[in-house]
Amino acid sequence: MARQKITVVGAGNVGATAAFIAANRRLGEIVLLDIVKGLPDGKALDMAEASPIQLSQQEVRGTTDWAATAGSGVVIITSGVPRKPGMSRDDLLATNAGIVRDVSRKVAELSPDAAIIVVSNPLDVMVYVTAKVTGFPKNHVMGMAGALDSARFCSFLGAELGVSVEDIQCVLLGGHGDDMVPLPRFTTVSGIPIAQLLGKERIDAMIDRTRKGGIEIVNLLGYSAYYAPAAGAVKMAEAILRDTKRLICCCAWCDRQYGVGGCFVGVPAVLGKEGVERIIELDLDGSEKSQFDASLGRVKELVIRVDQLLGN
Ligand code: NAI
Ligand code: 2OP
Repeated sequence: MARQKITVVGAGNVGATAAFIAANRRLGEIVLLDIVKGLPDGKALDMAEASPIQLSQQEVRGTTDWAATAGSGVVIITSGVPRKPGMSRDDLLATNAGIVRDVSRKVAELSPDAAIIVVSNPLDVMVYVTAKVTGFPKNHVMGMAGALDSARFCSFLGAELGVSVEDIQCVLLGGHGDDMVPLPRFTTVSGIPIAQLLGKERIDAMIDRTRKGGIEIVNLLGYSAYYAPAAGAVKMAEAILRDTKRLICCCAWCDRQYGVGGCFVGVPAVLGKEGVERIIELDLDGSEKSQFDASLGRVKELVIRVDQLLGN
């Protein structure tokens, strides 16, 4: 299927930044949509004016008109409210469930072949809402969180170890919440397990900082992070559009995998032109498994709550 048109829903911090990164990576024709009149148009115009400097030569169209999104190959959903200091991602459930439901309906109507990357929070349950509303094949619906959370873990480790982040690879499982599960046993620096380079206490401190990475930024800014989240979403879009088969931690549908039993949750997955093409199953030890199960349990609770909220 043709996947060269990308729609970004929500022209706020994450959405506009994602559109700008995608333009600079020349991923295709980009449509930036919002409900606020003037906002997507103004941001798109600003990006167009940057293109002679950035040499992106890439059209970004800002609009409030859904018709402009028709036939998109990839849709990134960032519409919704972000959290403020003192709020958890779960506090956004009621507001964002309605917004994500409504925009998902429009995507299903206008871009029936799209792969959808959800970013809105609470992430895993918003992916569930999109999948339910669109009825799309499960491999065409996914969420961006692992790309961000693993990048945070890598960046903290790079600074701690004084090595290039380019050489750090890490894996992270579970929901996009404070109980996410970074896996130090599968984290390496150019193939060297981090336990060979860093003591347990420091590794645990990096894991804790990763889990609280979102709120650390909310507390500094007063609103939530957007450069790294946008970069994570575009990394996923690029893997799909260019069919690169990159292995990226993301929120994907799992049935038998990891014994999940039918739920969208964070796992390592291969992304390509078919969307989520394969889930990679790791042999978890007892502690990793129980942390993953706890995180999954939390996601499943929210799925029940959102079904009640939306009257499903
Ligand atoms: P923002 O407030 O800057 O932008 C959200 C935009 O969505 C606004 O411009 C708003 O007008 C628009 N919007 C609201 N309803 C809409 C609708 N029905 N149709 C089209 N546009 C609509 O928020 P920001 O910082 O961009 O965050 C967006 C969402 O992404 C939040 O829910 C936030 O929690 C989440 N997020 C998730 C991350 C992740 O790792 N999954 C990381 C960072 C943010
Ligand atoms: C983050 O982790 C708020 O989910 C967002 O930064």
